[in-house]
Amino acid sequence: MTISTVGVVGAGIMGGGIAQVCASHGYPVVVVEIDRDRLDHGLKIVHDRLARDAERGRLTQERHERALRRLEGSTEMASLAGADLVIEAVSEDLPVKRRIFDELGDISNADAILASNTSSLSLSELAAASNRPANVIGLHFFNPPTALRLVEVITSGSTAPKTIESAMAFCDSIDRLTVRVKDTPGFIVNRLLVPFIFDAIRMAESGTATAEDIDQASKVGLNHSMGPLATADLIGLDTLVQISDSMFEEYGEPRFKAPTLLRRMVSLGQLGRKSGGGFFDYSSQQGG
Ligand SMILES: NC(=O)c1ccc[n+]([C@@H]2O[C@H](COP(=O)([O-])OP(=O)(O)OC[C@H]3O[C@@H](n4cnc5c(N)ncnc54)[C@H](O)[C@@H]3O)[C@@H](O)[C@H]2O)c1
Repeated sequence: MTISTVGVVGAGIMGGGIAQVCASHGYPVVVVEIDRDRLDHGLKIVHDRLARDAERGRLTQERHERALRRLEGSTEMASLAGADLVIEAVSEDLPVKRRIFDELGDISNADAILASNTSSLSLSELAAASNRPANVIGLHFFNPPTALRLVEVITSGSTAPKTIESAMAFCDSIDRLTVRVKDTPGFIVNRLLVPFIFDAIRMAESGTATAEDIDQASKVGLNHSMGPLATADLIGLDTLVQISDSMFEEYGEPRFKAPTLLRRMVSLGQLGRKSGGGFFDYSSQQGG
């Protein structure tokens, strides 16, 4: 099917960025959040980012205004009834996502594609919850979605070929680069990345080196643009724990087990960039 309108569930780090990318590429987008405060907060970050791009000349004033006009917010799932593609980007929590797919199965039009941005959870479970398994696909964007072009396209055994075709064509239309992956926890990138980040955290935990030096060594020695601890802060330490818990549960391998230091930081509300601090301090950069 041809996709003309997009719905996004969740206006957090990923949902807000995905909505912005879709609106910037010409799609009317409805973003749904759990309550008005979170919706306003998520949309404000998107508006500020678009305004910064316009100020810096990365976006003409006209394109900036058009992107803003295409973005609409709602706290009602029913607002997604007219969307041809719905991208779910809520917290990495299976019961929550299952409920959303169940609801989407009831409210969306029969041909709509229902996509999840999950990093590690079973797409097949979400497909089953929707009662429309043929229409369900994983579209795993990367953080920040406005800058990173990769989308892992995840299919379950029930995803229909026409769903895959339309979803891939959609990704092309928003200038993303796609790779196809089977429904396995962590797909390609997180399966490689999570153990790498966890080794860095364990080194920091045991005092092998400072967080600064671990990241500096990775950047200069491996030619990575960002160190593993700064990457953890960017992902969100709570999200990282949720992702790795489901990978550990599935694979049972200790390399996917969240280090104690990471869990402690999450308990203390040190979630990385989004809370102003994690392995590094971002308190002077709050707001998006
Ligand atoms: N953070 C990353 O680097 C990253 C990268 C790729 C994929 N992901 C995946 O994207 C998804 C979202 O992650 P995030 O980092 O944006 O999390 P986040 O915590 O920044 O945002 C999640 C948002 O979902 C909202 N939400 C929760 N339940 C909801 C509901 N029932 N209806 C509407 N909104 C609801 C929350 O209010 C919150 O604003 C997760 O599945 C995560 O694994 C994250």
